[in-house]
Amino acid sequence: MTETASRRPLPVVGPAGGRARATCRFRCGDACYHEAPNTSDNAYFGDVYAGLLSRRGMLRSGAVGAAVAALAVGGAAPAAAGPGNGGRHAGPRLEFTPVQPNADDRVTVPSGYRHRVVVRWGDPVVPGAPEFDFARQTAEAQEKQFGYNCDYVGFFPIGSRRALLWVNHEYTNESLMFAGYTDGSDADEEQIRIAMAAHGGSVVEIERTGDAGEWRLVTRGRRPYNRRITATTPMKLTGPAAGHALLRTAADPSGTRVLGMLNNCSGGTTPWGTVLTAEENFNQYFVGGEGAPEEAKPALRRYGIATSGDTRRGNRRFDRVDERFDLSKHPNEANRFGYIVEIDPFDPHHQPRKRTMLGRFKHEAATVRLTEDQRVAVYMGDDERFDYIYKFVSDKKHRAGARRHNDTLLDSGTLYVARFTGNSPAEQIDGSGALPEDGAFDGTGEWIPLCDAQRSYVDGFTVAEVLVHTRLAADRVGATKMDRPEDIEASPVTGKVYCALTNNSAREPGQADEANPRAANRHGHVLEITEHRNDSGATTFTWTVVLVCGDPEDPATYYAGYDKSRVAAISSPDNLTFDRAGNLWISTDGQPGTLGVNDALHVMPVEGRHRGELRTFATVPVGAECCGPCITPDDRTVFIAPQHPGENGTLEHPTSTWPDGDFPRPSVVAIWHAKGRKVGSA
Ligand code: FEO
Ligand code: CA
Ligand code: CA
Ligand code: CA
Repeated sequence: MTETASRRPLPVVGPAGGRARATCRFRCGDACYHEAPNTSDNAYFGDVYAGLLSRRGMLRSGAVGAAVAALAVGGAAPAAAGPGNGGRHAGPRLEFTPVQPNADDRVTVPSGYRHRVVVRWGDPVVPGAPEFDFARQTAEAQEKQFGYNCDYVGFFPIGSRRALLWVNHEYTNESLMFAGYTDGSDADEEQIRIAMAAHGGSVVEIERTGDAGEWRLVTRGRRPYNRRITATTPMKLTGPAAGHALLRTAADPSGTRVLGMLNNCSGGTTPWGTVLTAEENFNQYFVGGEGAPEEAKPALRRYGIATSGDTRRGNRRFDRVDERFDLSKHPNEANRFGYIVEIDPFDPHHQPRKRTMLGRFKHEAATVRLTEDQRVAVYMGDDERFDYIYKFVSDKKHRAGARRHNDTLLDSGTLYVARFTGNSPAEQIDGSGALPEDGAFDGTGEWIPLCDAQRSYVDGFTVAEVLVHTRLAADRVGATKMDRPEDIEASPVTGKVYCALTNNSAREPGQADEANPRAANRHGHVLEITEHRNDSGATTFTWTVVLVCGDPEDPATYYAGYDKSRVAAISSPDNLTFDRAGNLWISTDGQPGTLGVNDALHVMPVEGRHRGELRTFATVPVGAECCGPCITPDDRTVFIAPQHPGENGTLEHPTSTWPDGDFPRPSVVAIWHAKGRKVGSA
């Protein structure tokens, strides 16, 4: 019998939240220290339970019975839907020896595996860029060097031994970038410009070394694709809201041109070879909300932008070098952020497109799956406590190789928001995490249309208003308030769709519902969605909570019914990906505060006898969250992006000196099996 995920006891931790205080400050502008911005009276599920047991049975059998071909993004083979909910076939089994929880200041991988840093903050990206010099940073240099805090990683092969990596640079931590930094009010203006240049994303060329699965940065030669995108790169607003009055500013009376993207968290890739990158906590970059027009203030508040008090005490104060970030002068500028941005990594001159058709909110990620009839579905989460899960479905079909046609796919279609309805009586969902009598947190759901390119389905909202004020439109239609929807990913084997709900300590017991079943949900959970007929174009689905996270010794955890003495602890699931065998890889953001151990990359089969057998594959350095993950199409390499190492310390008193032993540098790491076996092998 192979070794299982036997565990060492976890340290005892205090009541503090999952993240370091500095992460809250710089990443999302202390979102969790403010009231959740969704104050709509939109019902919790417990209020709307309506005895759907009979309907549930009908939908479930429909979902399991259908064997609809589902083409996975990236060219994976279509596959029939597998047996539902842990069927009796053996399914995949992970064989590696799990990494034990730890608080070490390094990347730890399983026995038999190797890892290396591929690229880190400050490395030259654009040919001719200067070498990084911590003590003498300039904005001009940073515009050509790898940015800060890497999050999403996308892999684009060019031949068998070369590839492009796309990497998001979500945000900056100026306290760890500049000695003596206090806040944006005191910052040197050049530091502000450096921070703007360290946001955005990078395209870098990498090459394979050896035959196992090792990759490294190409540092010589032309590297024609290498590129930096920053907070000032010219971009185009496209789709039905482009040009609308809400998007016009003094600098752009057309409402179609915007400079830069902000706080790009996770993302996705498209079957036509572009990257989708998601603007998340854009709100924190704007000041002056108290001086915005009164009629604009409710929408600003719904997006977490303060409209009273002293709004000019920000961490960054971009407004000091560019007044468009001052809403008292340019109230519409904030409406031009919070989108899914599409970028072609193979065209270094491509102007990024902000796709208004996919709505505006704190976009976490964008996962593409083709519908049964070859249209494009994009699954998206809005990462805020009590916010929603969305889906876009295009009007037009994807055509392989038709680049110009495919460039229009994300500009017309239907935007939906999700409503989840449990199938157990509300009184059995008591917020403790105890399973209801039917043994599962599960039920049915529907995708509620908000608008298409021509029509709004929300009373009182035009199409453009739905797309710019998407949160307010979704509040009107009974969407389900979720526990911070993060990444979403579809299995390449079954087509089922998984969503990480990272945590929500603000959910009160009376607000628990079957899709968000735990009050004070510090550890989060993972939802499995099965679209009707396994078609991403469907408007109904069934769902089940596959993982309720935490220390498995805590009775309020659930690992799809698997023996909890044989699984690893996990908290605050964030980014997801799949290998080609259909194992779900889950990286975390918050384990130091909730479990007292470093964040990690875990992996779990979701089909067969081992469904729920979660193991830890890698851990990241002190203070870091584990971003990425990205697995190459041959399953030989997994890239992770340890973001914000040392964020619980200072430059004077560092908690991390990873990766080089001096100061912490957010980096992308490749992990591979020394013998070239598929990741997850022994
Ligand atoms: Fe940037 Fe929702 O994590
Ligand atoms: Ca149930
Ligand atoms: Ca995230
Ligand atoms: Ca993902």
